[in-house]
Amino acid sequence: VKVTFVSSDGTRRAVDIAEGETAREAALFNDVPGIDGDCGGVCACATCHVFVDPAWIDKVGRLAEGGAEADLLQFAEGANEYSRLACQIPIEPLVEGLILHVPEQQY
Ligand code: FES
Repeated sequence: VKVTFVSSDGTRRAVDIAEGETAREAALFNDVPGIDGDCGGVCACATCHVFVDPAWIDKVGRLAEGGAEADLLQFAEGANEYSRLACQIPIEPLVEGLILHVPEQQY
C-alpha cells in the first residue's frame, strides 16, 4: 500500500507498506523524518502526530472524541481537526495513495 509523507518543507516521500501495519511503521521502516513513534505504537507518546491530508480524512476517519488518542493530541503542538496519531491509522487497501503531513514542530 502506498503512503506519501509530506514534510513541512514540502518534501514528499512515497513509501510502500504492507497491509496490516500502521502509518507509524510506514514512517519508521522508511526513515521518514519527524515521526519518532517513541512509545512503540501503543498510543502513549504523540511523537507520531500527523495531519491527514484533507482529501483523505473521511477515509481515514477523524479523531474519536474522548478517546485515548484525543487525550494525547490535545497536548500536541499545532494539533488541528486533521490531527491523528500515525500508530492509530491502520494500513489497508482502502487507504492506497494516502497522504500524511508531518507537523513542523516534530523535527
Ligand atoms: Fe506513540 Fe503513536 S507511537 S502515540
